[in-house]
Amino acid sequence: MFGKKKTTPQIDKDQLELIENAQKRIKQKKRLYVHFVLFLIGCVFLIVANTVLNIAPDFKPFGKEWFLSAIILWLFIFIYHFFNVFITHKFMGKTWEKDQLEKLVAKQQNRIEKLKAGFVKEETVLAKSEAYNITKTESQNTAKKLGLTIIVAAAENDAIGLGNKLIWHLSDDLKRFKSLTNGHHIIMGRKTFESFPKPLPNRTHVVITRQKDYKAPDGVIIVHSLEDAIDASKSDSQPFIIGGGQIYKQAMAIADKIELTRVHENFDADTYFPKIDAAIWKEAANTFHKKDENHNHEFSFLTYIRK
Ligand SMILES: NC(=O)c1ccc[n+]([C@@H]2O[C@H](COP(=O)([O-])OP(=O)(O)OC[C@H]3O[C@@H](n4cnc5c(N)ncnc54)[C@H](OP(=O)(O)O)[C@@H]3O)[C@@H](O)[C@H]2O)c1
Repeated sequence: MFGKKKTTPQIDKDQLELIENAQKRIKQKKRLYVHFVLFLIGCVFLIVANTVLNIAPDFKPFGKEWFLSAIILWLFIFIYHFFNVFITHKFMGKTWEKDQLEKLVAKQQNRIEKLKAGFVKEETVLAKSEAYNITKTESQNTAKKLGLTIIVAAAENDAIGLGNKLIWHLSDDLKRFKSLTNGHHIIMGRKTFESFPKPLPNRTHVVITRQKDYKAPDGVIIVHSLEDAIDASKSDSQPFIIGGGQIYKQAMAIADKIELTRVHENFDADTYFPKIDAAIWKEAANTFHKKDENHNHEFSFLTYIRK
């Protein structure tokens, strides 16, 4: 039951045809050979009939014994047969040639179709990889876009500063600012930069000013527009816009995320944060903090994403 299966030799259609043609050719040659032998025997017989058996001794076409004419005639027939086998039917006849031609054409067409299919496949792969690259670039752009983040603490009335100073002291807000911006580029207006006693550690400061000769400590990047500030931060996947009022106003149009600390009170101020348009921004996170010994005001950490 589980013995070896008997294998029968497989011959494909083309091979079978070749064998059939070879057989036909052998038969043709065989017939010619038989014809030749018959011709030789026939010649002997005709000579014997005419000269030995003396059949029709007076019949002399062209003035010669008739066996000569008979042999010459037969010789012509044999030559014609020979021609038929080796010259006229050398390539198995016209029908065979036509068949072969048609088969060759069909084979070539088949090949062309396969090549075409290959090209289509390659084109599809290429198109897919191009589409993949486009998608990749788009998602990279999106990631980059999502990285430009405004970070701000604003009162209920959007107050953010007074006399070039912050209005409140909220230690958890400062901690959050430090942890979010740590290791990143922080983009700011000249006035905000000057409100710091010294540059903040472990951050790359990018300061925007119209003053061409503005001097700043080593490591601080000075630029003359918000676009240049973003360009200077392009190595950073998440640069932060940290204020003040003028820079927030300009950055609202291009930022994709806002990390807002909303202080739940109204304050007198000279600098304000722009209104957050609910049609443009979607609230993504909201954490409330009560007043305590370290915090004189209630506040919430809010995250907004551009819709
Ligand atoms: N609550 C918060 O989260 C927060 C955060 C940051 C700051 N603040 C407060 O905000 C206040 C400061 O804000 P602010 O609006 O007065 O000043 P700012 O935005 O910090 O800086 C304004 C300065 O930036 C430069 N500038 C602005 N736009 C520019 C542009 N398009 N091209 C070139 N330079 C440009 C100018 O510098 P030049 O004059 O040198 O040309 C301009 O005077 C302070 O009270 C600070 O405490 C609050």
